[in-house]
Amino acid sequence: MVKINILLTGATGLTGTLFLSNLADQNPGSQIYCLVRPTSDCSSIKRLNLNLSYFTGDSSKCETWNEILAQYIPSTIVHIASIRHVPVILDSLKKAQKTPRLIVIGTTGVYSQYNQYAKDYKAIEEQLIQYPGHYCLLRPTMIYGSHRDKNLHKLIKFCDRYGFFPVFGSGQCLLQPIHADDLAKAILHVLQRPTIQGTYDLSGGSIVTFRELLAIVEKQLGKPVRPIYIPLRVGIWSATVAEKVLGTKSPVRREQILRLQEDKAYPHDAAQPDLDFFPRSLEVGLRQEVELMHSQGVL
Ligand SMILES: NC(=O)c1ccc[n+]([C@@H]2O[C@H](COP(=O)([O-])OP(=O)(O)OC[C@H]3O[C@@H](n4cnc5c(N)ncnc54)[C@H](OP(=O)(O)O)[C@@H]3O)[C@@H](O)[C@H]2O)c1
Repeated sequence: MVKINILLTGATGLTGTLFLSNLADQNPGSQIYCLVRPTSDCSSIKRLNLNLSYFTGDSSKCETWNEILAQYIPSTIVHIASIRHVPVILDSLKKAQKTPRLIVIGTTGVYSQYNQYAKDYKAIEEQLIQYPGHYCLLRPTMIYGSHRDKNLHKLIKFCDRYGFFPVFGSGQCLLQPIHADDLAKAILHVLQRPTIQGTYDLSGGSIVTFRELLAIVEKQLGKPVRPIYIPLRVGIWSATVAEKVLGTKSPVRREQILRLQEDKAYPHDAAQPDLDFFPRSLEVGLRQEVELMHSQGVL
């Protein structure tokens, strides 16, 4: 591997931990600087065969970046923590007059017509495009793959426990979730090839409807999972009343219900040749996740 001076954010999260684990397998002993929060649990990355050093701070704060850049200039910043921090990072780099390569994890949420944040994501991406150095923006779809994922993991647990799952509307909307390990491998591929730049959508190996997703979960759990159909209007009305009238927290937000009606399948055609990106099928990924959850006693 090209010797690179790397600063990583998000090291302790789902994708970050798998990224480091893949790096440790391919290049044991690699040196990486990780920006972690004072509260971050670093125990699982400390066990990896890597030479890790830590900066403690908050990647959404310019003070943190100014302080880091005053003592250390990375040749590459791999920013997994949140695309929302990018404007602050760009500002600090501008002040420091440095242009390291930036590898940023964004989101296909930028395409949403409902997501209130889609506008923010677009504005941030526009700022990134203006960056005078090299950058690569990777936009994953919904990420899954372990007890750390906040999406399918919860759904699997619910289905296992109750044997049903609510489906708002027809359940025919399309999904293409990406396994966190496939995303982690793509980030590593980009890191190892300094010529790769630009923007890539990264989706999973299968396009399924929400109903088909529940059928796969049923198969992998080996027990029935009944879809309970809730008319869309009823779902939206209940969430709106809970949020706006009663001021309580709805278990499913109005926007989430609306987003569930939206197709979220995005081709990864550009990433396939450039990033050697061949993500696993959802059936394989969910089988692995269910096996992992069994082995960890989560199911
Ligand atoms: N999850 C999805 O379905 C999804 C879909 C599309 C895009 N994405 C994006 O993909 C990226 C990776 O997602 P993920 O699910 O792997 O993430 P994750 O498991 O939620 O982990 C987030 C990581 O970022 C760190 N972090 C968050 N805010 C920070 C801050 N202010 N300062 C320093 N560190 C901070 C966290 O540190 P702690 O350990 O201290 O919490 C953690 O290491 C994120 O940018 C996410 O927005 C996620």
